[in-house]
Amino acid sequence: MSVMTVLLGLPLEDHEILKHWTDVWVLPFSHAMTPEQEMYVAKEGIALQQYLLAAMDEKRQNPKEDLLTLLVQSRREDGSELTTHEMLGFAEQAVVGANETTQNGIAMAMQMLIENPGIEERLHDEPAKIRTFVEECLRLQSPTAGMYRTTTCDVEMHAVTIPAESVVHLRFAAGNRDERHFPEPGKLDLDRRNAASHLAFSQAVHHCLGAPLARLELNLSFQILLERRKNFRFAYAEENYDHVPGLALRQLEYLWIKSDPAEAAMDTNAA
Ligand code: HEM
Repeated sequence: MSVMTVLLGLPLEDHEILKHWTDVWVLPFSHAMTPEQEMYVAKEGIALQQYLLAAMDEKRQNPKEDLLTLLVQSRREDGSELTTHEMLGFAEQAVVGANETTQNGIAMAMQMLIENPGIEERLHDEPAKIRTFVEECLRLQSPTAGMYRTTTCDVEMHAVTIPAESVVHLRFAAGNRDERHFPEPGKLDLDRRNAASHLAFSQAVHHCLGAPLARLELNLSFQILLERRKNFRFAYAEENYDHVPGLALRQLEYLWIKSDPAEAAMDTNAA
């Protein structure tokens, strides 16, 4: 969240309230809210929108080198401005899309590191494999597990016709386990050659705008964690790491871990 706060050009000290708003923003994805919770989500959502509108006004007055300034200065090909609604939609998407998915991606990759014997040792020995590790975790855990689409025409797939104007739910997570594309799909394979060809960031016009940033954040997180710590393990052996109920996002409720300092880190501390 702090990375995105800085990129948007917002004060770093606001990252905690932004994190709170984005956590609340995704609550409806659980499809299990009481009317009181719906009211709460709506009020917090308006607070986020008012915050972003004020920030965009500020960027119009005092342009800086950041994403929000770029947004308020952007024009369509015919020279017209984006509507407030469009700018707000983009800013909200950037804040929420950047936080939830990346934090869940990092947490679930840590869970995979712990649950798959031998992976941590191999990554310590061959840090270049962290890239494949990250792609395999995105493929197997798919933080955005699915999204809705509306068909604009009749679509035939596998001898089934989906009529135009149908609402369909694309399961990126299911496609990512297609054995015709990924042999032994359930295996976290550090030697998989096509590991990055997954659907975790969707495809074509909907492809995630933040995918390069997300990949960079995940890669750096594990590079630094593995440089500094070792023997990652669950803090409580008996814990069952549940997921937040919901169809679109895949999120752990929590993850408690323990680890020891890596030798190199201990040397640095001693020095
Ligand atoms: C592991 C991390 C991430 C995952 C798994 C992820 C996943 C996705 C997916 C699946 C979509 C397509 C949604 C659809 O099909 O309708 C998407 C769109 C988007 N993502 Fe991400 N995302 C991640 C990180 C980020 C980050 C860091 C940013 C911000 C810089 C971001 C910003 C966006 C935006 C703005 C869109 C909308 C693109 C558009 O419709 O033009 N995402 N993301």
